[in-house]
Amino acid sequence: MGQNAPLFYDEPLELVRGEGVWAYDAQGRAYLDCYNNVPHVGHCHPRVVEAIQKQVATLNLNTRYLHPGVVRYSEELAATVAIDDAAVMLTCTGTEANELALRLAEHHTGARGVIVSDFSYHGNSRQLAALTSCFETPEPFPDRARAIPVPDPFRDRQGRDDETLANAYAAHVEAAVASLQAAGHGVSAMLVDASFANEGLPDIVPGFLAKAVEIVRKAGGLVIFDEVQAGFGRTGRAMWSHQLHDIAPDIVTMGKPMGNGFPVAGMIAPRDMIDRFGAKANYFNTFGGNPVAAAAAQAVLDVLREESLLEQAGTVSAHVVAGLDALCEKYPAVANVRSRGMFFGLELTKPDADRTPDPAMAKRIVEGMKAEGVLMGRIGRHDNVLKLRPAMIFETEHADILLGRLDRVLGALS
Ligand SMILES: Cc1ncc(COP(=O)(O)O)c(C=O)c1O
Repeated sequence: MGQNAPLFYDEPLELVRGEGVWAYDAQGRAYLDCYNNVPHVGHCHPRVVEAIQKQVATLNLNTRYLHPGVVRYSEELAATVAIDDAAVMLTCTGTEANELALRLAEHHTGARGVIVSDFSYHGNSRQLAALTSCFETPEPFPDRARAIPVPDPFRDRQGRDDETLANAYAAHVEAAVASLQAAGHGVSAMLVDASFANEGLPDIVPGFLAKAVEIVRKAGGLVIFDEVQAGFGRTGRAMWSHQLHDIAPDIVTMGKPMGNGFPVAGMIAPRDMIDRFGAKANYFNTFGGNPVAAAAAQAVLDVLREESLLEQAGTVSAHVVAGLDALCEKYPAVANVRSRGMFFGLELTKPDADRTPDPAMAKRIVEGMKAEGVLMGRIGRHDNVLKLRPAMIFETEHADILLGRLDRVLGALS
């Protein structure tokens, strides 16, 4: 696998079993999983396991045959977005979904310019690696792309009200559009995660995204919302995080939690756009949306609905945020609490006037929480934002375990 195969922790963890919100290591030690969003409805949810087992014991093959499971799933999925007469293309990974979305946008607009944030990750293909702005890649950032600054009101506010700040952020989008047009690339797409998750989960200033969408559309570009990480009801208040901002997408991509760990991802776009692209591209994906993938994904949708997990996420999220706010009051190192439903960020800084980012403290907390039996991670430009994305079945009793242990670790490190 090579010595740079990415692993978490100073001493990497070998997890061998999972159940609900718990994961177990090779020594049988239990960890409260507050990190992994892929087991979206909980590790080894019996409904998903059964659906996969049943389908894999019945039929599994490539995607060039009719199958009612994939049609039913696609119709239910398409109905979750505000795109008139939408259709679905299924893939295996979020990378493939975003790659496809960019191809579709380029084909539809005839333009090549792409806008992303300046601390983003959307996948690992040649094109998406080049567009990656949150870490170095061997491929240079393309001439035909522009990166807009991450809108982060915690750092940028400087006494400005929401509207002024939203206009300032929108001005960066205007500038990116103007620059792409001046260079002759035109605007094909803005590819953005409406939750800015990899960017550090900043609070989104009301009005900013709507303005950005308007600017891109006016220039003839499409807006692709990358919901690969933040989607499938994680916000608690909507199925997709862009829906919190009351804006209609042109294309939506999804993945990670979609099959609760079974590799399935996809893209939703207007049917006529997909039909015109398909006529030229002859796109075929051997495994993407095969009968087992569709069964896993259908089970996830069914569980979300039947167990009312969006509603639960709303209630549990409020409980977690109240607890995190209390820790923010108690410990000067915790500078800011962010949340989007079951997605939480805790910004760690030095207690100085500039609130200097403190990635070393964040790392010590992540390691300390591992020792306490809780999994979490880090995000953001300075790697100083604790990242928590527990499964949608997380309950207040689990939240209390998390908050109690976090209090202990913060206390020991402060
Ligand atoms: C926002 C976002 N988009 C796309 C991807 C790529 O998904 P995948 O790893 O399934 O290719 C990721 C993965 O981390 C992601 O966080």
